[in-house]
Amino acid sequence: MEDKIILAIESSCDETSIAVLKNNNQLLANIVSTQISIHQKYGGVMPEIASRLHIENIGVVLKEALETANITMNQVSAIAVTSGPGLIGALHVGLQCAKTLALMYHKPLIPVHHLAGHIYANEYVSPLKFPCLAIVVSGGNTELVIMDKHLSFKIIGGTIDDAIGEAFDKVARVVGLPYPGGVSIDKLSKEGMPIYHLPRPKDDHTYEYSYSGIKTAVINLVNNLKQKGEEVNIKDLACSFQTTAIDLLLDKALPAIKEYSVKQIVLAGGVSANSYLREQIVKRTKNKDVEVVIPPLWCTTDNAAMIAKVGSYLYDENVFASLNLSADPNWKLEDQMKYKQKNNF
Ligand code: KG4
Repeated sequence: MEDKIILAIESSCDETSIAVLKNNNQLLANIVSTQISIHQKYGGVMPEIASRLHIENIGVVLKEALETANITMNQVSAIAVTSGPGLIGALHVGLQCAKTLALMYHKPLIPVHHLAGHIYANEYVSPLKFPCLAIVVSGGNTELVIMDKHLSFKIIGGTIDDAIGEAFDKVARVVGLPYPGGVSIDKLSKEGMPIYHLPRPKDDHTYEYSYSGIKTAVINLVNNLKQKGEEVNIKDLACSFQTTAIDLLLDKALPAIKEYSVKQIVLAGGVSANSYLREQIVKRTKNKDVEVVIPPLWCTTDNAAMIAKVGSYLYDENVFASLNLSADPNWKLEDQMKYKQKNNF
């Protein structure tokens, strides 16, 4: 049988990445060029700068990926690309690269949803088992997703306002910590105590989240202490915020195990790097008949290996797009399969 070689491109935010995956299990290359040090100066990702840097970097990243994988474009079976959600200008750079390669080398084009990628990153640790609960936590998302089979995504809950990562970033900014705030808060929390009381939203026994109240409570606390001329203990505040935010996440997510007869839980997205989340989820599921997969840290940040993994499954299902594919910043995860059609290359 011919090898299935997926070349995948990810450029939805501030990482330019290209990966090569052979036969669904041999990751031949995963080159990631991060722009984080540039955006740090601005306290967050600057969309226009991100697009320009993707344009500068993508050719070099492609060359390095092909060299590392030791393949030529002719050997590639299909090109997978993140086509949403993400920063529109940034997405277009990856898409244009993918479409040009598809046209030049007569390869099918596979559109991949960015969050499907984050979920499938876990397949580099353990095969997905169904029903699976994916806890998707990033700068832009707080989503609970149930999967009954491969490529089937059902969102059972999410945030009604701020995403959890956004709250980490805003709280960090209020106390003068660098971007990305989640990393700094996680680090400082280890030296602090949860002494500040932060209000949680009332438990309504749904899978809906709200993080704006906790974030505002932190801002008010810092301002009140400042007015009184008192110092805020940043380590204790970081620990108080992190504990409240993560406890809320798990208190609401874990009842889904029973309701959906969940066999496996996977963490996905940038916030899944959080050390307290990783520790607590293992602790709190110890006596439950459920497998918990914790992605390695390299899988929690944006990379094309995760896009290649989804691309590999989509290839088997004939999910191909035509050359007029465009970026869709509002693409819903449930619609990942909407492109199912015959390969017309
Ligand atoms: O998935 P991601 O790289 O980007 C989006 O697609 O949004 O996630 C970035 C988010 C940022 O909000 C960042 O502060 C957060 O992930 N993050 C963390 C940690 N590492 C990154 N949040 C909490 N604890 C961490 N260790």
